[in-house]
Amino acid sequence: MANINVTTPANHVLLISLNRAKALNALSKSLLVDVAAALDEAAANDEIRCVVITGDDRAFSAGADIKEMPEDGFPMWAAADRLKAWKTIEKFPKPLIAAVNGYALGGGCELTLLCDIVIAGEDAQFGTPEVKIAAFPGDGGTQRLPRAIGKARAMKMVLSGEFIDAETACDWGLAVEVTPKEQTVARAIEIAGIIAVNSPIAVRMAKEEILMTYGRPLDESLSLERKLLLWQTDDHDEGIAAFVEKRPAKFTGK
Ligand code: CAA
Repeated sequence: MANINVTTPANHVLLISLNRAKALNALSKSLLVDVAAALDEAAANDEIRCVVITGDDRAFSAGADIKEMPEDGFPMWAAADRLKAWKTIEKFPKPLIAAVNGYALGGGCELTLLCDIVIAGEDAQFGTPEVKIAAFPGDGGTQRLPRAIGKARAMKMVLSGEFIDAETACDWGLAVEVTPKEQTVARAIEIAGIIAVNSPIAVRMAKEEILMTYGRPLDESLSLERKLLLWQTDDHDEGIAAFVEKRPAKFTGK
């Protein structure tokens, strides 16, 4: 896949690096389709338990590819393959960690909103500058950003188009840690490795349940959570046995 590099830097961890440095990793349609295809493969591969996505030193991603604006008048944002790719990213069932150095703007910022954990390099800048090109954060940003950081902060970011720095992103809950920029990816991989030791089935279930917060009313998601408590897995038996026997658990994902 020309737009991305895919490697396995640690046991059970996949690293997707966006590879359009000259365009600040702008999310062209084909790049999004490549990311979605890599995630589809990762979802189907039992060996992969956690995915890290990153850009390069200068940019995580500067957003949708503004130069891909069509000549036929049909808005590129709404192209079916583009929307399908976003849906795949949104529905990815395993943990997805963003390692952000440099710009995370527009669709790039919206991509971080779909990640479960965001690690920001000290020079990271997050922003939704779409108003400056007479657009708005339509890849989920108008809905996810206020849920992540609150209405007033989202309004300030979206209506002004101004960027926020890594410390502010961390204070506001867009990121969980700020690292020196040369350690951002390594730190994300380290966290992925810690997650990957846990039972993959429990981790997937926990992710799904946390995400219910955003999609369902509280009484409905609480009752679903209670039903999910009835689950029984080999990993659960193994986790309890390992605890009682004072040994590390060996999880298989079953
Ligand atoms: N799409 C396409 N190309 C982009 C791009 C984008 N989003 N962002 C940067 N590039 C390209 C530039 O055109 C430039 O290419 P050339 O060398 O061929 O001219 C190259 O990347 C480097 O960019 P700059 O020379 O502009 O670098 P800079 O350091 O001066 O500025 C920047 C960096 C502030 C990020 C500036 O590039 C910028 O403002 N980019 C656009 C950011 C933006 O508006 N993102 C939102 C896109 S809309 C969106 O995402 C839609 C949606 O949600 C639905």
